[in-house]
Amino acid sequence: SAEMVRIAFLKQIPPSQAWRGVAVTPIINGNWEIKSGPIKSGSSKSNSDRPHHPHVSPANTGEIIADVWDTTADHVEAAFAAARQSSKDWSKTPAVQRAETLRRAADLIELNAPKLVGLLQHEGGKTILDSVSEVREAADFCRYYAAEGERLFAETGITLPGPTGEENRLVLDARGVFVCISPWNFPLAIFMGQIAGALMAGNSVIAKPAEQTPVIAFEAVRLLLDAGVPPGTITLLPGDGRIGAALVAHAAVDGVAFTGSVEVARLINRTLAAKDGPIVPFIAETGGQNAMLVDSTALPEQVIDDVVLSAFGSAGQRCSALRVLCVQDEIAGEIIRLLRGALQELRIGDPRLVSTDVGPVIDADALKSLTGHVEKLRSFGKLIGEAPLPEGLAGWYLAPVAYEIDSISRLPGEVFGPILHVIRYAAKNRTRIIQDINATEYGLTFGMHSRLQHVTAETARQIEAGNVYINRSMIGAVVGVQPFGGRGLSGTGPKAGGPYYLPRFANEKTVTVNT
Ligand code: NAD
Ligand code: ALA
Repeated sequence: SAEMVRIAFLKQIPPSQAWRGVAVTPIINGNWEIKSGPIKSGSSKSNSDRPHHPHVSPANTGEIIADVWDTTADHVEAAFAAARQSSKDWSKTPAVQRAETLRRAADLIELNAPKLVGLLQHEGGKTILDSVSEVREAADFCRYYAAEGERLFAETGITLPGPTGEENRLVLDARGVFVCISPWNFPLAIFMGQIAGALMAGNSVIAKPAEQTPVIAFEAVRLLLDAGVPPGTITLLPGDGRIGAALVAHAAVDGVAFTGSVEVARLINRTLAAKDGPIVPFIAETGGQNAMLVDSTALPEQVIDDVVLSAFGSAGQRCSALRVLCVQDEIAGEIIRLLRGALQELRIGDPRLVSTDVGPVIDADALKSLTGHVEKLRSFGKLIGEAPLPEGLAGWYLAPVAYEIDSISRLPGEVFGPILHVIRYAAKNRTRIIQDINATEYGLTFGMHSRLQHVTAETARQIEAGNVYINRSMIGAVVGVQPFGGRGLSGTGPKAGGPYYLPRFANEKTVTVNT
């Protein structure tokens, strides 16, 4: 039965202690260094001034996950040399073979699912449900880009129309060495998605994972090597933003794929713009100031289910998460009452327990900045409700909370955690509210609950967002089904898991033959 499968799967998840003593180092040319020795206690923050540091779990800061050895300048040079050399062969490997390699990687991800789920819980602070869907998404990215890439990167290219006596073809070529810089909030799916896209397009990849989640990245790169990605074609360089900055500034970069905050995207964009030599393409997927509109025809119970999942699921640490709930006056009282009740029901705690709804936030800095925002909300907002925070939790936990505010313009930008802002609006001001949402200049996700089809259709046209969800939650885009990504402050517009993603990693070449 399904229950037996579930129990058997849970039993296979290695205990957290299994990671203790693991050393994470750069992986260059298929080699990583075997390090051993006592792990010193101290700050878990990555710091390239020290050669290695203990890395702790956000779920329990007393638990050391691994000893992380950061990247040095020598590693950076060795990585570029290896990547440049290996890109010559990999770019010429037929697309069907590159696709086969990605499919083997997907198989290995699935085979290692219990281990990866355990790590996502332990290092990423994710609940079991979130971890399982993340492993699924990572495998989906590999398979989807394999299928798309086989078609797009076929040697014959696309045949184009032309006059008699002329043959026109459009072919896609690899760019060379891609630097992929990823965030901690999808440390497996986004990490793998970027890499799979760049590899499928025939590039070598130098991957820089977030400093909060190097262990998952270390496991993932070893799976790629096991799947047959040639050594040199995939490199892992753990470290903090300074390593990312050094990679982007390097003369041998042919492309950068970045997912993270808009602030860092701007820094990278400036570095690339200031470089001599070829113009380097930049793919950026950044944050959101995501809103949901609920009119008076909406079904309150369904709204609450979708709001709670969208705002507080994954502790609000999804770029797609709901930040601003805009509710029409007539229904606002009821929605707020139900929301207060739903907050009371949420179970906050260790994400490694099956009963937990909401786990920790990622680190001490995140907790501090979110707590600071709640402090400010006390002065300009009105408390709606707060989830109960159990005593004795040893990690970075924040009680999910909702505040009523009077305008979206009050917010400082993206607030990346389980904090929901609620705004009431009068029916006659619906267009104004949509203008206010568009005026934030973010454009990632948007949700709407209404039973009036002409209103949802008109709103979907007016809203400037990458993913619009009507009468459902606004998180959990499925690869190949809901291509995901935003515009404006939310990024340069790539759609991860969509049909136009791979060409961004390639050069297009038109070949015209006079026959
Ligand atoms: P971040 O921008 O702080 O870090 C992202 C990555 O950039 C990390 O690997 C970091 O080490 C690196 N980095 C930091 N400074 C750098 C520099 N100067 N040069 C090069 N690299 C540098 O973001 P985060 O806190 O890891 O992730 C959360 C953010 O990511 C949120 O804003 C979230 O909305 C966004 N996000 C967007 C999407 C999307 O698909 N649009 C998906 C997930 C997360
Ligand atoms: N792709 C993720 C989601 O849709 C961020 O929630």
